Amino acid sequence: MIQTENLTKSFGDHLAVDRLTLDIGEGEVFGFLGPNGAGKTTTIRMLTSLIAPTAGRARVAGYEVGRDDDQIRRHVGILTETPGMYDRLSARRNLSIFARLYEVERVDAQVEKYLKLLGLWERRDDAVGEFSKGMRQKLAIARALLHEPRVLFLDEPTAALDPEASRLVHDFVTELKGQGRTIFLCTHNLDEADRLCDRVAVFKTHLRVVDTPGKLRRQVYGRQVVFHLCGAAEAFLPVVSGLPFVSAIEADAGKLILTLDDPESHNPDLVRALVAAGADIQFVGELRYSLEDVYLQLMKDGVDA
Ligand SMILES: Nc1ncnc2c1ncn2[C@@H]1O[C@H](COP(=O)(O)OP(=O)(O)OP(=O)(O)O)[C@@H](O)[C@H]1O
Ligand SMILES: [Mg+2]
Repeated sequence: MIQTENLTKSFGDHLAVDRLTLDIGEGEVFGFLGPNGAGKTTTIRMLTSLIAPTAGRARVAGYEVGRDDDQIRRHVGILTETPGMYDRLSARRNLSIFARLYEVERVDAQVEKYLKLLGLWERRDDAVGEFSKGMRQKLAIARALLHEPRVLFLDEPTAALDPEASRLVHDFVTELKGQGRTIFLCTHNLDEADRLCDRVAVFKTHLRVVDTPGKLRRQVYGRQVVFHLCGAAEAFLPVVSGLPFVSAIEADAGKLILTLDDPESHNPDLVRALVAAGADIQFVGELRYSLEDVYLQLMKDGVDA
């Protein structure tokens, strides 16, 4: 649904996006992660035909960036970093204006649908200038959806939102995915990316890695199993150190932490071996690193795709 090939943008002699190649499928929620100034918003602006690429190509919803720009604008929705609204006009009036701009067919019905879906119906006649940050953000999300776009670009959709409103947006993204829409999500909230995204890209001027959050976790940390034992774990190092399927071992007070390729196959053997050696096992679990841990490690390593 979104394909780019060596997509590049320079501002003067500053290279903001360097030869980005991506292929994002229909119905995919794709996370685009990277530090401030990485070029994420610039990428979104190219993919929504707001600015022209310096080089390379991109297709969005089957349309070619730079050639079918009107069609692209018609078929994509965009939530920008700082959505502008007419502050003196009501929420309903704001949406109606944009719905007409997008040539939406049933303007009133669409405006009502999205004001209700985002919990703003009660405030429909209030001036947007009186809205809180979060309410403005919800209104901007409603605006991005009025014309029922197949592809949605969300640039930090929950940056200003409280936990409850963030949850609402997350549930909403999941619902939109369920309807088969494709979502390109820029976020600094890595828990959000972990929860919502089928795949994530780590990007800083150029693409570092793209994969599912689970595979990135495994790539960076392997799979680690922790055995909680009664007493010191060091005593059991000799039991596990010779085993061929254990690639790394750490003992920390009552915890024995082992890196394994395939814990499902090898944990039973490990439990048997430890019990036979006299270990009292309190519980066994898999160490789960957050996507934030993975991201920080990838940035530190300067890993390249
Ligand atoms: N219109 C512009 N003119 C000149 N430079 C620009 C312009 N837009 C963006 N840049 C530069 O391009 C780089 C990438 O900016 P961009 O806004 O895409 O980053 P970002 O990844 O979205 O960052 P953030 O996480 O802070 O939103 C920055 O160095 C920025 O200064
Ligand atoms: Mg940005």
